[in-house]
Amino acid sequence: MKQIDRLAALGLFDSRVPRYTSYPTAPVFSPNIGLMSQQRQLAALDPKVPVSVYIHIPFCERLCWFCACRTQGTQSLSPVESYIGTLEAELALLADTLPKGLRMGRLHWGGGTPTILPPALIHRLARAVKDVFPQTPDWEFSVEIDPTLVDRDKIAALAAEGMNRASIGIQDFDPLVQEAIGRQQPFEATLACVEDLRAAGITSLNADLVYGLPHQTPARMADTLDKVLSLKPDRLALFGYAHVPWVAKRQKLIDETVLPDDQARFALAGQSATAFAEAGFQAIGIDHFALPDDGLAKAARSGHLRRNFQGYTEDICPALIGIGASSISRLPGGYVQNAAATPAYIKHIEAGHLAGARGHEMTQEDLMRARAIEMIMCDFALDRESLTQQFGALTAGLDADLDQVVGRFGDLVSLTDAKLEITEEGRPMTRIIASLFDAHMPADAKFSRAS
Ligand SMILES: C[S@@+](CC[C@H](N)C(=O)[O-])C[C@H]1O[C@@H](n2cnc3c(N)ncnc32)[C@H](O)[C@@H]1O
Ligand code: SF4
Repeated sequence: MKQIDRLAALGLFDSRVPRYTSYPTAPVFSPNIGLMSQQRQLAALDPKVPVSVYIHIPFCERLCWFCACRTQGTQSLSPVESYIGTLEAELALLADTLPKGLRMGRLHWGGGTPTILPPALIHRLARAVKDVFPQTPDWEFSVEIDPTLVDRDKIAALAAEGMNRASIGIQDFDPLVQEAIGRQQPFEATLACVEDLRAAGITSLNADLVYGLPHQTPARMADTLDKVLSLKPDRLALFGYAHVPWVAKRQKLIDETVLPDDQARFALAGQSATAFAEAGFQAIGIDHFALPDDGLAKAARSGHLRRNFQGYTEDICPALIGIGASSISRLPGGYVQNAAATPAYIKHIEAGHLAGARGHEMTQEDLMRARAIEMIMCDFALDRESLTQQFGALTAGLDADLDQVVGRFGDLVSLTDAKLEITEEGRPMTRIIASLFDAHMPADAKFSRAS
């Protein structure tokens, strides 16, 4: 049987499973874990251990039809400016809650489109963050950049505030594909943006691409890949298009009849991975690629790759404080998510308290399964010895799941007393294999496809 037929028979195209940027996943967070848990856990943070900070900017000037991110369109800057005021208020509330002396090792601005902010708002927000979170000497600041909504002045403002990493959205350069996803993005404008970012001192540049978009063919993909590689990024993210119109209503504008079918999607992903390998990139986890000298590739080689809400990271800060509408904090006791809808988030902050609305408090079993799933997603292996060192007898609770994985996937995996490993051929099944260790998998949640 051909590899693709075998994987298809094992559920590659039919399974709907999480991407495991957290465990448990956000859909199972409970409304009973919110503000109280958030306040208690933030106050209990160890001030000697630096934290990561994430700021969500849920605004875009245009809404791309394919996009499943939590964001809203606006033609005017007034809701954006007023939102920055709310973020300042949330930061002041955090200052009252956090232990004194806590420092920030990482800052990430995501969205939506952080580069919708004009320079004055960039400086205002950066100042407000730095007032509450003094930076460590090796501080890193990364920003998601829409090349069609940025200019030299915005890049200069971000660089002056310390941005040293950037991630640009590309998706696809083909005009027909761009038209079908409601996103016009000329190559020349993207190149100019990359040149400006490099001139501003960006040392690590990531580009996001998506396969499985309408009208994508091997020839069009080859052209996009050539153009992307000519930009000389340090990292690439290659996401499978998640068509989830029941969550992202704007995707109803996508013509489903011109989406590549299962086999075509699989081939597009393979074609891209081959092109990246030939260009010298190292494959990282299920959907990233990095030049061998980039920090992500080094982390993957040394077994220090981690997974968080932004995907793969070499960030080692144990706690992540999420600020803004829908942001999720990962705290020592579990997860807390701010109210997701922007008006609801604003209402919480205006009422004078933090915006934690849902969450999950971790048991030891949750922590053990979270680490097991992270290992599978990062290393394509579950290190049983290291889990047992960390969690002791509790790891015996995974034995039935390990048996199930071997029973279902046969020689696509190998199991010894020391390790479960996914073979090269079995790697497309990684998310499905991870889901077999998920004790909270909701029966009714509709996740995106696994490939
Ligand atoms: C929050 S967006 C930030 C990008 C920035 N706003 C821009 O447009 O350049 C992050 C990335 O998520 C990915 N993404 C969004 N919707 C997706 C979907 N439905 N399926 C797969 N990837 C998606 C895109 O690659 C996008 O660049
Ligand atoms: S891809 Fe970027 S610009 Fe387009 S809607 Fe999503 S977040 Fe906004």
